[in-house]
Amino acid sequence: MKDLASCGGLFISFEGIDGAGKSSHIAAIAAAFKAQGRQVTLTREPGGTPLAESLRCLLLSEAMDPLTEALLAFAARRDHLCQVIVPALVRGDVVLCDRFTDATFAYQGGGRGLGVDSLSKLELMAQTDTALGPVLLVEPQLTIWFDLPTAQAAARLQDARVPDRFEAQAPAFFQRVAEAYSARARQAPERFARIDAGQSQAQVQAQVLQALAERALLIGNPVSSAKAAP
Ligand code: TYD
Repeated sequence: MKDLASCGGLFISFEGIDGAGKSSHIAAIAAAFKAQGRQVTLTREPGGTPLAESLRCLLLSEAMDPLTEALLAFAARRDHLCQVIVPALVRGDVVLCDRFTDATFAYQGGGRGLGVDSLSKLELMAQTDTALGPVLLVEPQLTIWFDLPTAQAAARLQDARVPDRFEAQAPAFFQRVAEAYSARARQAPERFARIDAGQSQAQVQAQVLQALAERALLIGNPVSSAKAAP
């Protein structure tokens, strides 16, 4: 296998508390990269492979203790990395992943109270392997973080479909999740791009495309080429 770092692949994750609105922007970002001739792999966590999608169903519906949640999240991630993400990066694709490991630190760490040390050990086990190529840890080069006050996110979720196990949590849970995202962003400021998700959809999309352009990941005028939604 080629060295992952030299393949020209680009790994971007999208994060935020439930209701922050990240999912609606990912298609536009994929379109912007495709317009530049890039091959795009659009995927999500938990999920992205048949096995990981089965684990997602369990995670979102079955009661379990916090460590079991984290173990399932990392098991799904491991399969996703081996089957989809690493092969796509080796091909030189842009991988756009709706949530990744920061979500485990935020939800199972902040939300459920699991320690950062245990999660870091699992992260190292799941995301490092010589079979994955000569890299230390497979993680996103850029994480687009949709930051929104928890009260606003909760208001947006009110009109949504029947809530899953996480969406049904109390405001205090989301406050802890939001604080854990903040802590992750402070620890890796070069990887995180914070987006003010409280603005209009068009403004949020412009911020995201701007963050990509600033890092020279998109060239030209990405805002107009992706036709920002009104
Ligand atoms: P989400 O992206 O919100 O899916 P949808 O937009 O379809 O609701 O992800 C599903 C939920 O899974 C979300 O509430 C966060 C949770 N989650 C974890 O608790 N741990 C994890 O490691 C991941 C990736 C997600």
